[in-house]
Amino acid sequence: MARIVVLGGDGFCGWPTALKLSAEGHQVAIIDNLSRRRIDAELGVESLTPIADMPERIAAWKRVSGKTLAFANIDIAHDYEGLRDYLADFAPQTIVHFAEQRAAPYSMKSSWHKRYTVDNNVNATHNLLAAVVESGLDVHVDDQGISIQGNG
Ligand SMILES: NC(=O)c1ccc[n+]([C@@H]2O[C@H](COP(=O)([O-])OP(=O)(O)OC[C@H]3O[C@@H](n4cnc5c(N)ncnc54)[C@H](O)[C@@H]3O)[C@@H](O)[C@H]2O)c1
Repeated sequence: MARIVVLGGDGFCGWPTALKLSAEGHQVAIIDNLSRRRIDAELGVESLTPIADMPERIAAWKRVSGKTLAFANIDIAHDYEGLRDYLADFAPQTIVHFAEQRAAPYSMKSSWHKRYTVDNNVNATHNLLAAVVESGLDVHVDDQGISIQGNG
């Protein structure tokens, strides 16, 4: 069984991915800055199925599965040291990267939204790769199905 970090693990793709990997017996840690929840509040929208907050979701998973999910609230686009240090400490063998602003329509709302999206998504991936190199981790990075083998 592996130690796996799911970046963007509070999101649409990330949460079920984290649960599946945890159910398979892997040791799973989620990193997410909860920006998707902030965007939903900004847009005044919510899911048809209410989405509980992270502590409640993690507690529910523990109740039904007996398994523990770790969670860290880190903005991986802007807290490089936080990301690097968390990865060095957890020492994952695999990182699954979903931590992006996903919506093209949101990115086109204004100049600010466009710059926010590019800054967030480009920096997040760049910081991830830099953190893998700097921490010396021998880790498999999966970015939405695109695999990269890092060796420090
Ligand atoms: N939803 C789909 O059907 C689908 C299909 C193919 C590809 N994708 C891609 O997968 C990725 C995730 O999509 P999703 O639908 O799960 O989106 P989502 O918005 O539901 O999830 C993304 C998560 O990443 C987090 N996040 C964003 N920026 C972050 C940052 N700087 N630091 C830490 N956390 C951050 C958000 O808070 C959110 O929880 C996107 O790149 C999307 O384009 C999605």
